Amino acid sequence: MGDRERSNDIRRVFSEIAGSYDLTNHLMSFGTDIGWRRRAAEAVMLQPGQEVLDMCCGTGDVAITFAKAQPGLKRVVGCDFSKTMVELAMQKQAKLAKEGELDFENLQWCQGDCLATEFADSSFDVVSCAFGLRNMVDLSAGLKEMHRVLKPNGRVCILEFSLPANILVRWGYLLYFNFVLPLVGGAISGKFSAYRYLVTSVRKWDREVDLTGALEQAGFGEINITPLTLGIAKIHIAHKR
Ligand SMILES: C[S@@+](CC[C@H](N)C(=O)[O-])C[C@H]1O[C@@H](n2cnc3c(N)ncnc32)[C@H](O)[C@@H]1O
Repeated sequence: MGDRERSNDIRRVFSEIAGSYDLTNHLMSFGTDIGWRRRAAEAVMLQPGQEVLDMCCGTGDVAITFAKAQPGLKRVVGCDFSKTMVELAMQKQAKLAKEGELDFENLQWCQGDCLATEFADSSFDVVSCAFGLRNMVDLSAGLKEMHRVLKPNGRVCILEFSLPANILVRWGYLLYFNFVLPLVGGAISGKFSAYRYLVTSVRKWDREVDLTGALEQAGFGEINITPLTLGIAKIHIAHKR
């Protein structure tokens, strides 16, 4: 399968599970994913007046967390190639605004491929990507695009799953991850293959991807890594050189 077919496949899978995506995430992670996005907002040290792009925004949780975490951001843009995901993000924003839980007008959404976005060079102070990079069909193209749209010395914030380094913890986690998670995710979404894909992609990512090396190769430096919840996820912050 070529990159285009794989990309279409990934978009289709995420569009199919979009409706149950939030619920499945919160249940499967016992709610810890909410705290991880908050930790990412803290780690990237947002400042008033900054412009932020959240790549692979899904249903919008990272973009919304950032907009809430730092009042006075100039704009936050969420981008995803799944139309269904972007529509759900818009609905979430409207609902939160109506309930008085989100008071930020400069939150925008765009549907598009994050490997080649519509944005000009040096447009953003911060580019984030949560659980998205692993799904991009070309990791180095994704990182290069992040680098291109960042302003000089801008920061990238990548939140991604990993596997615990401690052998006992890893063993216990893998029992849950390999056997329980695909069943729960599949049962809620009705798409068992999507959650089998999640397990395979995280294991492949952990085994094969040197994210620090890939970031350096794409032109990033000053890389800081924060492990989360016994190492089942990590935040990478890196500066555009
Ligand atoms: C696991 S979800 C993560 C969603 C969200 N960032 C979160 O924290 O929950 C991955 C998202 O990446 C999107 N995606 C994958 N590859 C993409 C690409 N090349 N361009 C745009 N979106 C992409 C999918 O449509 C999906 O919504």
